[in-house]
Amino acid sequence: MSEILLRARGLTRRYTAPRRTLFAPRVVTTALDAVDLDVTAGSAVGVIGESGSGKSTLVRLLLALDTPTDGTVELDGREVDARQSARSLHWLRRQTGIVFQDPYASLDPRMSVGRIVGEPLWALDVAGDRRARVREVLEQVGLEAGMADRFPHEFSGGQRQRIAIARAIVHRPTLLVGDEPLSALDVTVRAQILRLLAELRADAGLTLLLVSHDLGVVQNLCDEVVVMKDARIVERGRTESVLQHPTSAYTRSLLDAIPTLPQP
Ligand SMILES: Nc1ncnc2c1ncn2[C@@H]1O[C@H](COP(=O)(O)OP(=O)(O)OP(=O)(O)O)[C@@H](O)[C@H]1O
Ligand SMILES: [Mg+2]
Repeated sequence: MSEILLRARGLTRRYTAPRRTLFAPRVVTTALDAVDLDVTAGSAVGVIGESGSGKSTLVRLLLALDTPTDGTVELDGREVDARQSARSLHWLRRQTGIVFQDPYASLDPRMSVGRIVGEPLWALDVAGDRRARVREVLEQVGLEAGMADRFPHEFSGGQRQRIAIARAIVHRPTLLVGDEPLSALDVTVRAQILRLLAELRADAGLTLLLVSHDLGVVQNLCDEVVVMKDARIVERGRTESVLQHPTSAYTRSLLDAIPTLPQP
């Protein structure tokens, strides 16, 4: 039996909108509804599903960036409690890296690229030559080490996404979570990042959880796929079987609707 690195049980997130008038009922949106998920150490899991199905909500809850209304998350057998202080969550940040859906919003415009990418090393007190490590990851994602002194607004969307990826892997996490992490990249750069992620999996045993609309990315990288609809997981399985023989009508229509991109 392989070891479960990440385990979610009954994970639920409801949002309550403020009353529109004094007597109007509160409108409650269920963004995630009692989701169970196991991610095996060393595996790569793709999450697909239509817009608004709860993918980003799931990712935020798994990494304690938001607090569940109900349910639990465990990483490596340890409870993830989003209500804890940033300091108490250092162990979680040390083990995980995240690439957000909107790479620009996630980069502080006042910080140089070197500081942005290196921040986890300083914040988590990671030992070693930090500046050298920043230069190394910048080159791994296909940027130049000299770009460390520049600022996010000086970069293209694809370059910013690579800056976000560099920041997410700089401290050598065991789990990398990406919310559309490759969406802004052109075909050549995407192929380079796919190779890098495959290498990190093979060499460092990196576990991946990737939200992606891009079936090429999912096919290339993921062993398993989870399909989300209306705040729930409606299908999960080995990538080839889900993509080639989907059991639910929803997955079938979703696959038909997603444009396929050339395989790198
Ligand atoms: N902060 C919030 N307040 C209220 N509702 C929210 C909030 N965040 C998300 N929701 C709602 O929760 C549902 C799931 O949103 P989520 O962002 O997880 O979807 P998604 O699958 O990531 O979509 P996309 O593919 O467009 O990124 C949506 O109906 C959304 O409107
Ligand atoms: Mg999203």
